[in-house]
Amino acid sequence: MSSHGRLGGKVAVVTGSGQGIGRGIARLFAREGAKTVVVDMNEAGAKETAGLIQKDGGEAMALKANVLSAAEVKSVVDQVIGKYGRIDILHNNVGGWQKEAHDTVVDDTEQEWDRLIDLNLKSTFLVTHEVVPHMIKQGGGAIVNTITINAFLTQPGTAAYSAAKAGAFQFTRASALDLAKHNIRVNGIAPGEIETPLWLATYNNLPGSAQVKASVLARIPLGRFGTPEDVAFTALWLASDEARYVTGQIITVDGGITAGVYP
Ligand SMILES: NC(=O)c1ccc[n+]([C@@H]2O[C@H](COP(=O)([O-])OP(=O)(O)OC[C@H]3O[C@@H](n4cnc5c(N)ncnc54)[C@H](O)[C@@H]3O)[C@@H](O)[C@H]2O)c1
Repeated sequence: MSSHGRLGGKVAVVTGSGQGIGRGIARLFAREGAKTVVVDMNEAGAKETAGLIQKDGGEAMALKANVLSAAEVKSVVDQVIGKYGRIDILHNNVGGWQKEAHDTVVDDTEQEWDRLIDLNLKSTFLVTHEVVPHMIKQGGGAIVNTITINAFLTQPGTAAYSAAKAGAFQFTRASALDLAKHNIRVNGIAPGEIETPLWLATYNNLPGSAQVKASVLARIPLGRFGTPEDVAFTALWLASDEARYVTGQIITVDGGITAGVYP
C-alpha cells in the first residue's frame, strides 16, 4: 500500500465501479494511494476495474454485490472491515435511468418508479447507513455521492430519475448536518453529459441519435462531452483532506451546461 498520494493510507469504497464513472473514480483514488474496494453487481466488471488498478501498481479488492440488498451491503462492509479494519472514504456512485428515456408520469409503471427511486436514492441510504457506524468509531470519514444536474435542472423523460436524484441531493445535505459532529463530511457531485457505457447505450437507443448528440453537444459551453476522469478529479478532491472544511455541498461537473440559459 502506498502512503503517498493525496489519499495515501486511506481505505476507499466505490460502488458501481465496474465501469463508467465509478471505474474512473476507483482508478484515480487508487492512483492517489487509497486501498480501493471496487463494488459492483457485475462481477466481471468489478474484477476488470480491480485488475486495471493492480496493473497501474495500486491496491484494489473487487466485491460483487447488489447495493439494493441490505444483506449484501452488510457483507461488503464486513469484508472490508475484516480486511482493512476501517473505511475512510465512501463514494456512492450506483445509479441509472431508463435507456429508452420514457420515464414519464404516463409511461412509468409503479414497478419502474420503485426501481428508479431505489436505484438512485435508497442505494445511497443503504450503503451510507452500513458504513457510517464504522466512520464514527474511527473518528471521521468522507462520503461523496454521485448525483446529476437533473437534480436541479431536469428534462423530458426523466421523471422518476430526476425525482430520485433530487432526493439524493437533499439526503447529501441532511446527512452532512447529521454527521458533522462525528467529523464525517458528506458532499455530492452533479455530472452533466459524461461518456460512459450507460450514456452511450441511451443515446444509441434514441431515434436520430447522431442529431440529438450534436444538439446536446452544442449546449455544452466547454465544447465536449465529459469523461469519467473529469468527474473523478472532483471526487478525489472532495474525498481528500484538501476539502477538510467542505461539507454539505453539491459540485457541478458539466462543462458549463448549467451556468446559463444559452451556451
Ligand atoms: N453518464 C452520465 O452522463 C451521468 C450524468 C449524471 C449522473 N450520472 C450518474 O453517475 C453514476 C454512474 O453512471 P454511469 O453513466 O457511469 O453508469 P454505468 O451504467 O455505465 O455504470 C454503473 C455501474 O453501476 C453498477 N450497478 C448498477 N446497479 C447496481 C446495483 N444495484 N448494485 C451494484 N452495482 C450496480 C453497474 O453494473 C455499472 O457497472 C450514476 O449514479 C448516474 O446516475 C451519470
